[in-house]
Amino acid sequence: MRAVSAIDAAYRQLFKRYLFRFDAEYAHRMTLRMLSLMPPFTPPRERPELAIKLWDTDFSNPIGLAAGMDKDAVAIRAWETLGFGFAELGTITPRPQAGNETPRLWRLPERRALINQLGFPSEGMEAVAPRIHRMRKAGISIRIGLNFGPNSNTPPEAVAADYTRLMERLGPLADFIVVNVSSPNTPGLRNWQSPEKMSELFATMVGDAGESPRPVLVKISPDLERNELFRICESALEIGVDGIVACNTSVAREALGVLSPHPGGLSGRPLLIRARELIRDIHTHTRGKIPIIGVGGVGTAEDAWLHIRAGASIVELYTALIYEGPGVVEKIKTGLADLLRRNGFRSIGEAVGIDR
Ligand SMILES: Cc1cc2nc3c(=O)[nH]c(=O)nc-3n(C[C@H](O)[C@H](O)[C@H](O)COP(=O)(O)O)c2cc1C
Repeated sequence: MRAVSAIDAAYRQLFKRYLFRFDAEYAHRMTLRMLSLMPPFTPPRERPELAIKLWDTDFSNPIGLAAGMDKDAVAIRAWETLGFGFAELGTITPRPQAGNETPRLWRLPERRALINQLGFPSEGMEAVAPRIHRMRKAGISIRIGLNFGPNSNTPPEAVAADYTRLMERLGPLADFIVVNVSSPNTPGLRNWQSPEKMSELFATMVGDAGESPRPVLVKISPDLERNELFRICESALEIGVDGIVACNTSVAREALGVLSPHPGGLSGRPLLIRARELIRDIHTHTRGKIPIIGVGGVGTAEDAWLHIRAGASIVELYTALIYEGPGVVEKIKTGLADLLRRNGFRSIGEAVGIDR
């Protein structure tokens, strides 16, 4: 815990004085570099009531890092030190690619939000694999999700093959896999959310026998119509998808109360209520049969708690880490343990979906 406080204090000093004066992407790169160079510290002590088991995997707590922060798996030890129970790394593409032109990341500090149109900059799966392999060999307690996406120059007819290659190369290194079909910054990607395309994709990735050595989840967009969402839920049940990550960034602006000229995906506080609505709809429509990772706008224990009560088994965050600093993870965990106790629950699992 002392290590987390020191890192948090250092970030706040830097954050206040320097980081926010830089271009958002440059500041992000510097922060990630510092985190990747950080010496290993003992992670904070875990509270047993926050532990949860999903897909036969034990998570020491339900708070995870959302995809996009550590796209190339360079700072796994730092996420563990900050107290995350899991980290979703990626989006990883098969071949290295630079992503979209810059500038492509903007802050909306007064709304505690970001807009990005990065377009999957990735060092590619061959760079990422040995990093995860090394960490596994050294021993880590944090759970690792790997988020997959196709290269931007892959023709539509070869997209499923991109996911399959990622699955073959990186699948065995992951605790769970996330198929990202919802980034708004890769043209055509969101079409893969349709039930027909999703079935085709999963059949190719996992094989017709439907057996994957690792749980395979799908990450969906907050911009889906309700009837589209219900069709996705039905087909997810049918295909045997192991989980749904709800949700990615949004291209909506006015509907989320944001006015901004920047293009791309909106994340952070304005997404909170929409994400919760999606989580509740998925939980209801799948009758709680498919575990949900709740993500979107989480910055406090109360936010995480309400995502869990709506149906999320575990929760992720990204944007709050930028605005609140790395101490936010431990703050949320302490608050969650308190909320559990005050509401008469003995474990996170008992509270999942009780507001359905
Ligand atoms: C700068 C940035 C980059 C992101 N990159 C990815 C990505 O590569 N893959 C992905 O699935 N989600 C990506 N996301 C979306 C997040 O994982 C998350 O779904 C979204 O930001 C909502 O969570 P938040 O409000 O806690 O940030 C990115 C988000 C941001 C802000």
